Amino acid sequence: MGEYHITGGQRLNGQLSIYGGKNAVLPMLAATVLNKGISVIHNCPRISDTFMVINILKAIGADVKIEGNTIIIDSSDADNYLVPEEYVREMRSSIIFLGSVLGRFGQVKISYPGGCELGARPIDLHLKGIRQLGADIAEEGGFIFAKAAEIKGARIDLDFPSVGATENIMLAAVLAEGRTIISNAAREPEIVDLQNFLCAMGAKISGAGKGIIIIDGVKSLYDVEYTVMPDRIVAGTYLSAAAITGGELLLKNIVSDHLNPITSKLEESGCEIKMEKTTVYLKAPKEIKPIKRLRTHPHPGFPTDMQPQLMALLSTANGMSIVEETLFESRNKHISELIRMGANIVLLQDGMTSVITGVKKLQGANVICKDLRGGAALILAGLAAEGKTVVANSAFVERGYVRIEEDLKKIGADISYFE
Ligand code: EPZ
Repeated sequence: MGEYHITGGQRLNGQLSIYGGKNAVLPMLAATVLNKGISVIHNCPRISDTFMVINILKAIGADVKIEGNTIIIDSSDADNYLVPEEYVREMRSSIIFLGSVLGRFGQVKISYPGGCELGARPIDLHLKGIRQLGADIAEEGGFIFAKAAEIKGARIDLDFPSVGATENIMLAAVLAEGRTIISNAAREPEIVDLQNFLCAMGAKISGAGKGIIIIDGVKSLYDVEYTVMPDRIVAGTYLSAAAITGGELLLKNIVSDHLNPITSKLEESGCEIKMEKTTVYLKAPKEIKPIKRLRTHPHPGFPTDMQPQLMALLSTANGMSIVEETLFESRNKHISELIRMGANIVLLQDGMTSVITGVKKLQGANVICKDLRGGAALILAGLAAEGKTVVANSAFVERGYVRIEEDLKKIGADISYFE
């Protein structure tokens, strides 16, 4: 586990280009198992989660080549429906192979992903949807064994617009017999990107992004070449870095429609935002304004993956803000570390609502990452703090950001990475 050494006080200024989205590429890579042929995916982020999924693809029997940010997967000879336990335990989002491996082989054996640093992370909605598609599911010894003589389209009403459950059901339904309708589906941009990728492979899917997704099963898919959408959370993180340091930033290679829930909150904190189709410009105010109430919510609400970063920003606002995390019961491990840096944050009894009273200046300190976005938040706090901050456990950050210290250095940050 490496660490980031940051000396705060530099106003960030400049421009950055945003790379492909982690939460878009992971389900796409899993989807290549459905295609008994070659899938070429461009703009893949070189993050540890991507390489973990590549290991799983190889274990299933796919041939995988990496050329820069392009990954070439040949799943023609894939023949193993057992998803290795060690990978699922290491990266819970590999549960996304449940739907694609079942769709390809008619059966799948995969370890129960279990919880993670964000909380219990149940998969009941995934399993309920897969059962409705005709699979028998046995859960024993920490494993899920799903088998379906034939996967048949069904109408599935999700109790909650779960991103992962929506993706798993989509993947299992692509080669099913007949029509599947998912209502109360997740509406995240990554779901739309997955639909576009699957349709480019010959799937018949529509409605992603609108809450009701219709999948008409096809007999087979064909080779595909596709470019992943940019990472809206990386973009939001960098905009927040410019905001917390009183700087200016131009981001290129973004999809501005994806950023509205984030930029509207940055504007509420006093930032000036100018958006074009593929670029966004932010100029920070002299003083960050508090946000009376910031609630996380499924898209198009404010994304939970930006909650820690906004909390760091609001720790320096001139007033009191309230932040309500509504999705993950344990997405609050960054609070104790921000307090070590002089932030004034009170986590209420419910464990989900925080009251943040902004302070003039945060103080550099030794802090520890406890999850991916919490780690990003600590880096942002270090950029604004007086003195030196050491952020330990960098592996969490490396799961979702490509050399974050290099990008921040490009726009003026005093940050170094040490193994
Ligand atoms: C995806 O996780 C993302 N991960 C998360 O990003 C993101 O925070 C989350 O969606 C919400 O946007 C990937 O795409 C790889 P959910 P996922 O299923 O699919 C409950 C990051 O930092 N739920 O939409 O696991 C669950 O407990 C990561 O990049 C059930 O109750 O999220 C939670 O409260 C973190 N039963 C809520 O739904 C289920 O079967 C949202 O979970 C499934 C979910």
